[in-house]
Amino acid sequence: MTACIRRLADVPFLVIGHRGAAGLKPENTLASFRAAVELGVHGVELDARWVQGELVVIHDDALERTTDGHGAVGGQSFAALRRLDAGEGERVPTLAEVLRTVPEQVLVNVELKGSCTAAPVAEALAPLARPLLVSSFDSQRLAEFRRRCPQVPVAPLVGGWAPGVPEAATALGAWGVHLPLRAVNGARVAALRRRGLRCVVYTVNSRRRAANLRALGVDGVFTDYPDRLRSLSAASTAASSRCSW
Ligand code: G3P
Ligand code: CA
Repeated sequence: MTACIRRLADVPFLVIGHRGAAGLKPENTLASFRAAVELGVHGVELDARWVQGELVVIHDDALERTTDGHGAVGGQSFAALRRLDAGEGERVPTLAEVLRTVPEQVLVNVELKGSCTAAPVAEALAPLARPLLVSSFDSQRLAEFRRRCPQVPVAPLVGGWAPGVPEAATALGAWGVHLPLRAVNGARVAALRRRGLRCVVYTVNSRRRAANLRALGVDGVFTDYPDRLRSLSAASTAASSRCSW
């Protein structure tokens, strides 16, 4: 069953497919996003980079790990990038292709990677009427996106906890904060909640761990294996508001 969400707040516990379903299919490919959707995720996460005038979906700034190419992603022409094999014959997709492939009732979380992504991602997302979330480890990039596209919720990604994390997210007007698993504890989740901030945790690949995080008050997880968390996503979808897309 394809999950259906109208607003982020409608789902008690978000299950978001990390780079699609990165544990099951080549990451950040259309096959990966389709697999995640088929497994009932509430949302998919992707990594967007601005390459030669196009928004492409690829995690690393180098080609070697995820494609049969070599060198820097930014050093390629768009045409050359598209000729590469991103695994199992898949191509490096554009953001527009992913947005067309993922059903409109499924959340798309765009992570801004690399420089110069805020403006083109804002331009791409601004006209859309679908659940969206934009995140970044780079707070300036995220602030620029928010200035350009204030209607789309944002969430800073942090690599670890620091005392100023909730305050910085509040100053940004963020929907929430994306925390690494190793940085999560009850006090930190509570500190975010006191400010009305949501907390989504990356990357969680076991059902037991996801259930424990939910019990701690966490609002969702990113997972490479949406199949393992299927019972949690199904229960959360059933508990959410009626879907009327
Ligand atoms: O958004 C969660 C996660 O994707 C952040 O880390 O390195 O997988 O992009 P990374
Ligand atoms: Ca990411």
